[in-house]
Amino acid sequence: MTTLVTGATGNTGRHVVAELLRRGQGVRALTRDPVAAARLLPAGAEMVAGTHTEPERLDDALRGVSRLHITVTAGLAEVGPELVRRAVGAGVAAAALLDDGHAGRAYHLTGYEALTPRERITLLSEAVERKIDFVAITHEQAVERLTATGVSRADAEYVVGWYARPTEDSTTVVDTVQRVTGRTPRTFAQWVNDHAERFRSPR
Ligand SMILES: NC(=O)c1ccc[n+]([C@@H]2O[C@H](COP(=O)([O-])OP(=O)(O)OC[C@H]3O[C@@H](n4cnc5c(N)ncnc54)[C@H](OP(=O)(O)O)[C@@H]3O)[C@@H](O)[C@H]2O)c1
Repeated sequence: MTTLVTGATGNTGRHVVAELLRRGQGVRALTRDPVAAARLLPAGAEMVAGTHTEPERLDDALRGVSRLHITVTAGLAEVGPELVRRAVGAGVAAAALLDDGHAGRAYHLTGYEALTPRERITLLSEAVERKIDFVAITHEQAVERLTATGVSRADAEYVVGWYARPTEDSTTVVDTVQRVTGRTPRTFAQWVNDHAERFRSPR
């Protein structure tokens, strides 16, 4: 069974690719740069050129795959329906998870614990054995920093507003990861320690 993974070389997608391969599944990784992707992704994944932003050009990539995992960088509302329509047209049974019983279900996921930014900085500071101060900035400064990276003002306002007033839903830990995967989610401290070297010497 082969799964087409979009966003396969990204922060999210590359873990999906690795996990599918680990479980002995076939993986076709959608990427705009198959040569670079081949260096990044584990051996065993088949690279296919393309991007989710052009779903009308994905018919070849979809041929012969039975599942589709969609991770998009932006514009899911615009490209998602067309991608799924083409996938269904190509005979793909669109399903994100391999085991039975997940079809048609949506899962609300959280990590192991709910931490404030200040708590995360403390853990990071400990992992890299360097004093890192937590410095609060104003709403306007946060919005300006985001817009300076190319994010629209409306999106920046939304993101900063969300961080300033997170919903109860987003700060309540649930056990979905444990229930669905049978594994306890990694703690933030474990993740920081796994990547401590990168934090010590940022690229
Ligand atoms: N990472 C997080 O912490 C996080 C948190 C919350 C939400 N999200 C959301 O989850 C989604 C995926 O996040 P991510 O961090 O995995 O994404 P990412 O690392 O930025 O990128 C995913 C991949 O999309 C591919 N891509 C195809 N067309 C692209 C285009 N026009 N512009 C940019 N990339 C393109 C790129 O692969 P190729 O270069 O190989 O084509 C890229 O590696 C996003 O919608 C993000 O907003 C992420």
